[in-house]
Amino acid sequence: MEFVTKTHLYTYNGVILSLIYGLDLSRNNFTGKIPTEVGQLDYIKVLNLSHNKFTGDIPSSIANLSQIESLDLSHNNLSGVVPHQLMDLYSLSSFSVAYNNLSGTCPQMIAQFNTFDQSSYEGNPFLNCTLPLMTTNPSVGHTTSDDDDDNNDGEGGFIDMESFYASESISYVMVLLITASILYINPYWRRVWFYYGGVTITTSYYFMVHYLPLSARYKVWEPRI
Ligand SMILES: *[C@@H]1O[C@H](CO)[C@@H](O)[C@H](O)[C@H]1NC(C)=O
Ligand SMILES: *[C@@H]1O[C@H](CO)[C@@H](O)[C@H](O)[C@H]1NC(C)=O
Ligand SMILES: *[C@@H]1O[C@H](CO)[C@@H](O)[C@H](O)[C@H]1NC(C)=O
Ligand SMILES: *[C@@H]1O[C@H](CO)[C@@H](O)[C@H](O)[C@H]1NC(C)=O
Ligand SMILES: *[C@@H]1O[C@H](CO)[C@@H](O)[C@H](O)[C@H]1NC(C)=O
Repeated sequence: MEFVTKTHLYTYNGVILSLIYGLDLSRNNFTGKIPTEVGQLDYIKVLNLSHNKFTGDIPSSIANLSQIESLDLSHNNLSGVVPHQLMDLYSLSSFSVAYNNLSGTCPQMIAQFNTFDQSSYEGNPFLNCTLPLMTTNPSVGHTTSDDDDDNNDGEGGFIDMESFYASESISYVMVLLITASILYINPYWRRVWFYYGGVTITTSYYFMVHYLPLSARYKVWEPRI
């Protein structure tokens, strides 16, 4: 890039691509292939190329976008297969290749891809998202119940923290009350309690006198044992 400032002509060819965190080129009329250089957008988190006229394959270099959280390639004319390398994008939480002309099979519904449903793939007449019959129905049911579980876990986690603190405080009070009433009711345990309490205090006192020079100057209450 050339630019003039204060009458001098400068050229700039710095690396700005790596600084891009989000790129929304949706609803343009872009044609041609998605350039493989898209894989150089190192820190990108959101990439939206939907509603264009891109053709050709989904470049497998997209699997280099290790930080990406949202990838929308829907409503184009992309063909070929969904690259299995996309399974390496562990941050991905939103994904769509719907309404293209993709073929082959959908990525396996494992890890983060277990959270994407049919709507991520619909509108691709040649794309086979049918899992082998054995696992189809259970895994579909499982997905929804997993989502429910996640939601419940989220809410439950929040409520759990409150009830955790509440029950924690109640437990402390209970322990104090029970200890106090045992000591009140049972004279023998009371004597034992105060005896060992006294021993502990005395030991701590002499420990401090011995190891911390300053405490020697102060007269500390000494329990008689
Ligand atoms: C991508 O852009 C389209 C059109 O602007 C929009 O409808 C869609 O929600 C965007 N995708 C995501 C994942 O935000
Ligand atoms: C895209 O192209 C179509 C016709 O090919 C045109 O009607 C539309 O306005 C164009 N959109 C943009 C954003 O240029
Ligand atoms: C993607 O990463 C691989 C290995 O890290 C590298 O060899 C390749 O050139 C990268 N591709 C792009 C388009 O950045
Ligand atoms: C979609 O892909 C199939 C081959 O998989 C091809 O025969 C067909 O012409 C493509 N359709 C469009 C609209 O590109
Ligand atoms: C789709 O793929 C599954 C397993 O990957 C296979 O069992 C099934 O026959 C395929 N369906 C079609 C229409 O190709």
